[in-house]
Amino acid sequence: MTWEAGADLVVVGSGVAGLTAALDAAAAGLATVVVTKDGIAEGSTRWAQGGVAVVLGDIAGDSLDAHVADTLAAGGGLNDAAAVEAIVRCGPDAVRRLRERGARFDARDSRPDRTREGGHSAFRVVHAGGDATGAEIERALVAAARGSELRGLTVLDGHVASDVLRDAGGRVAGLAVLDDHGRPGVLRAPAVLLATGGYGALYASTTNPPTATGDGVALALRAGATASDLEFVQFHPTVLHTGAGAAGRRPLVTEAVRGEGAILRDRTGTAFMAGIHPRADLAPRDVVAAAITRRMAETGSGCVFLDATSLAGFARRFPTVHASCAAIGIDPATDPIPVTPAAHYACGGVVTDTDGRTGVPGLYAAGEVARTGLHGANRLASNSLLEGLVVGERAARAVLGDRVIRGVGEPLAPAPALPVADRAVVQRAMSTFAGIGRDATGLATASDAVEAATTIAVPTARAGVEDAALTLLAQAVVAAAGTRRESRGCHVRTDFPDRDDTHQRASLPIRLDASGRPVVAGDALVGAA
Ligand code: SIN
Repeated sequence: MTWEAGADLVVVGSGVAGLTAALDAAAAGLATVVVTKDGIAEGSTRWAQGGVAVVLGDIAGDSLDAHVADTLAAGGGLNDAAAVEAIVRCGPDAVRRLRERGARFDARDSRPDRTREGGHSAFRVVHAGGDATGAEIERALVAAARGSELRGLTVLDGHVASDVLRDAGGRVAGLAVLDDHGRPGVLRAPAVLLATGGYGALYASTTNPPTATGDGVALALRAGATASDLEFVQFHPTVLHTGAGAAGRRPLVTEAVRGEGAILRDRTGTAFMAGIHPRADLAPRDVVAAAITRRMAETGSGCVFLDATSLAGFARRFPTVHASCAAIGIDPATDPIPVTPAAHYACGGVVTDTDGRTGVPGLYAAGEVARTGLHGANRLASNSLLEGLVVGERAARAVLGDRVIRGVGEPLAPAPALPVADRAVVQRAMSTFAGIGRDATGLATASDAVEAATTIAVPTARAGVEDAALTLLAQAVVAAAGTRRESRGCHVRTDFPDRDDTHQRASLPIRLDASGRPVVAGDALVGAA
């Protein structure tokens, strides 16, 4: 028996983008429901360490123009310059409003303290709790959401979104969900905002929580939206190496540790980033992650080492990293920290404008799930919380301004059966053949492995919905990575090591074909710089 309820806006996901949008929409009088798979505080946001990149105007030599320039330099020629301008310039006000909502950032001399990360030309990253910025932002937004529950914001936790429902005219008509026991429900609503985070769970080793199964991209593609830049999976250069074969969410070692002076060394103690990039250890993270991967192969080592022994007060400044190190018997004050790259951030996603609009009337996306064009081929560190805040706010305003909430159509039944592959097979194939360093043969092998493990099934519970999303994302990432025959940003092809600006400086749009398979659509290239 399917239950039904109604809302003006359904927000899927409860990270920084989702909660910011939901709070603003509820404050503006929209009956808003936030749907989350686990508890309201369990998304990717809480694991973010470094901070929010923002120019507050009080750091000599820094400027909004410099932040824009750093974002474009990191993005490898695929940013949408107008989106970069719009989001970076809205950052200071969005951070001010977040502070008014209760988020407390670390201060020095009565001003927000700033750190630096890879690719930034200035100290401009505000942080909280030392290296617990995401946790503080999530705390503040969750507290605000709980406070506004009586004013039109309802949280439906323990539910996975299984389909965006549309009416006969193609407009959004609601969201189908399943609870933890597989019981179905329908939220009738004229507007759905996807804020589900990324797809780190495509890989065996990731900084993402297990909820990051690409649900939002899969929901949007199946609803007729376009995705893009999916091949640009950013690997964080430094997660704590806890032994060969460690899987699932890995402890992050924030880039701010390098921003404040730590140096990468190989197993012989050689500092290897100098000479690879003018910014050495603070090069954009695609450069650092690829260099670490090469060095590990050259030295036959399962990790490299981050030497933070010169940093004073490590435990106070980086309490989260310190605790993760202590748990495996490492003291960063005296020991080099063993680190490896791991899947971290989806630079691409559902194609939206900077107000979160997709091409499907009534469907919006914000945060990591979306591709606004801010990141291009490689995200600049700490631009993601910024994007979530800014586009979360703008999407709430768009829902109000677009007047989609005037009426809701009769939802059509979605396709019940979907391709679903075994998650372990997908993760093994993607980790082996579609990580840092891909080639045509490996990508074909990954595609074959996923295909062979795929059956057509009707997902009846959360695991099935997630596995269907991961299967779709694996097919889409492999299709995009195979089509892009060059190396650019965090897409590294060993068989095409050079960047090809003559023919390939454009994003690849992905849509579903008539059989439901993701394909690179040849008719348009979206938002190249
Ligand atoms: C980090 O703290 O290194 C991660 C921050 C980010 O991914 O933006």
